[in-house]
Amino acid sequence: MDKLVVRGGNPLTGDLHVSGSKNTALPLMAIGLLTNGPVTISHIPDLKDISTFRKVIEVTGATVTGSPSDHQLIIDASNLNRPEAPYELVKRMRASFYMLGALLGRTGQARVSLPGGCAWGPRPVDLHIEGLKALGAEIELDAGYVVAKATGGRLLGGRVRFEPSSVGATINVLLGAVLARGESILENAAIEPDVVECCLMLQKMGAKIDGIGSRTLHVQGSDTLNPVSYTNCPDRIELGTFMIAAAISGIPGKPVSIHHANPEHLGVSFMESFDRTGAGVEIDGSTIRVTAPEELRPVSVRTDVYPGFPTDLQAQWTVLLAKAHGNSKVLESIYPDRFKHIPELHRMGVNAIVVGDEVVIEGGKRIQGTSVMSTDLRASVSLVLAGMIAEGETQILRVYHLDRGYERVEEKLAAAGIDIKRVSYDEWADPN
Ligand code: UD1
Repeated sequence: MDKLVVRGGNPLTGDLHVSGSKNTALPLMAIGLLTNGPVTISHIPDLKDISTFRKVIEVTGATVTGSPSDHQLIIDASNLNRPEAPYELVKRMRASFYMLGALLGRTGQARVSLPGGCAWGPRPVDLHIEGLKALGAEIELDAGYVVAKATGGRLLGGRVRFEPSSVGATINVLLGAVLARGESILENAAIEPDVVECCLMLQKMGAKIDGIGSRTLHVQGSDTLNPVSYTNCPDRIELGTFMIAAAISGIPGKPVSIHHANPEHLGVSFMESFDRTGAGVEIDGSTIRVTAPEELRPVSVRTDVYPGFPTDLQAQWTVLLAKAHGNSKVLESIYPDRFKHIPELHRMGVNAIVVGDEVVIEGGKRIQGTSVMSTDLRASVSLVLAGMIAEGETQILRVYHLDRGYERVEEKLAAAGIDIKRVSYDEWADPN
């Protein structure tokens, strides 16, 4: 297994480059299954989750070519003959559940494993299933699998209302709706950039979707869609993580440039909160320059659906608040128990306690390096950030969580001045 070893105190001084979005690349790959012929997707990040989803796609008989290091994949579903997603792969990554909508849309049937829980608690998929039922699918649960069928081999279309708004369910139902016989209306649809990117790619393939970027999507089903080439968008969560890194460990007055960024995708709430910390932000096309302030101000946040503060940035924000002087709170409204990073940060001296769906932070306390455990993707990067501002050395164990979603993060940070390296270790070795 690998761990990251960070020696705190070095300032972030160099440039950083944002990779392609993980959370968008995965559904874009699923979209590649909706047509006969090669679909080329570029700006794909080289990540564990991408190689897992590649395997999920290959189970169906579709081919995936292209090397991850070239950041481009070609998906050809001309020979899709096995509409299944097995537990062995779905358990590794919940986004595999996008296969339900994609396979139902494309073939009129699907057998997809239920994903189960995730590292920070239950994450239901009832809205995905109810939505596809509303489009005409007959769905049964069989030994941990969702077995779905459209009468006559094709979904009909229908009206779906998502309550609460869900990124995953909106995309899954959209994947079914674009190849349905009739019209579908998706109400209270998610408007996260991931959903908008999916709509834009589908539109390029010939799908008829009205209301893109709004809470109501009108989809007129098509008989077929066309193979296209599409460029994935930059990763908004990696951008937000790098902005926080620059604010907490940049040299005051000396901007850190972050390239290949799309700050609009972060939403207004993050940008306003960031501004209120006292950090400077200058946007110059796809480059964003962040200047650390002399002293960070504590800014409480509440996670919410887009354009609200992203749940995927709350763990990193907590580290910023631990450095800021004063008291603050982080309220998690999307996943109220997503706080597995707090006990680990506590071991480093961060004074933060969980009260219900909130974390209360007393900032400005001494942060010390020690060994800490990654528990999930965003929690692990928050530990890297804490290590960057801690005294001494921090060892972040079980870094495979981080590898699911951050492309070569230690190389990027090391090139920008941070003392960080990857080391192999045996977790069960005798400490003596
Ligand atoms: C969420 C985030 C997404 C992030 C991802 C991974 C939001 C709105 N979504 O997406 O930005 O990248 O986590 O960290 O911030 N729900 C149901 N039934 C369902 C599906 C969802 O009740 O079938 C609920 C969830 O419990 C949650 C809310 O709807 O409270 C939003 O869920 P959804 O957007 O689907 O979550 P993810 O797709 O996991």
